[in-house]
Amino acid sequence: MNILIFDSEEKLNLAGANIIVSQVQTVPRAVLGLATGGTPVGIYKEIVSDFQKGMVSFRNATSFNLDEYVNLKSDHPESYYTYMNTHLFAHIDLPEAQRHIPNGNASDLEAECARYDEAIELAGQIDLQLLGLGHNGHIGFNEPAHALIKGTHIVELAEKTREANARFFDSIDDVPKQALTMGVGTILKAKKILLVVKGADKADIIQKALQDPITTDVPASLLQTHPNLIVLLDSAAAGKL
Ligand code: GLP
Repeated sequence: MNILIFDSEEKLNLAGANIIVSQVQTVPRAVLGLATGGTPVGIYKEIVSDFQKGMVSFRNATSFNLDEYVNLKSDHPESYYTYMNTHLFAHIDLPEAQRHIPNGNASDLEAECARYDEAIELAGQIDLQLLGLGHNGHIGFNEPAHALIKGTHIVELAEKTREANARFFDSIDDVPKQALTMGVGTILKAKKILLVVKGADKADIIQKALQDPITTDVPASLLQTHPNLIVLLDSAAAGKL
């Protein structure tokens, strides 16, 4: 595992964007796994800036997002569909047909999960998976549990996760109770994983995830088994390592 610590958010965002952009520049038809949340916003901004400078084209890339809320209209301001358009897709040349986000409004959610896994299989392995980290150690929406699920599945969101995400909604009652998420099996199959963590409020959980024994109670701890993990931390998040 390669842990890089940055003394400014700007440097961290630049480093994260560089890793993703060079992946797209060097791997023909790169398959990217993308994440949402507050953490990657600055990285996406740098990627858009690189695209606008003509440094990179996403025409031949494919993307798969980690997760999406269940029963939140795709045009809702807090859907991950809206998030991705706002922060990335509307500003780059990644063709719409090559962008994938699980459909949390599908009439048959189980079938949607199977369809999503098939689409990932068809695209081949994910070359680079971008990940944020939940305060309870979740990755994607794989919440702490007695057992973790390999492929895309429906998940009941932990109260802690709903509370953390309530900041984006009018009230906690508006935060969906379920989501669809890629499973840990799919995440761990990615050739390279880029985990990005910012803030003192995540110092405890990133320490547990990277340095304590591997446990399904901290899903991110499974990343310790990955042969090609890059971790980008700001100094606050790295405070307890
Ligand atoms: C969210 C997402 C995750 C994200 C995590 C941390 O709910 N499902 O993919 O990594 O929680 O979010 P943030 O970056 O806003 O702290």
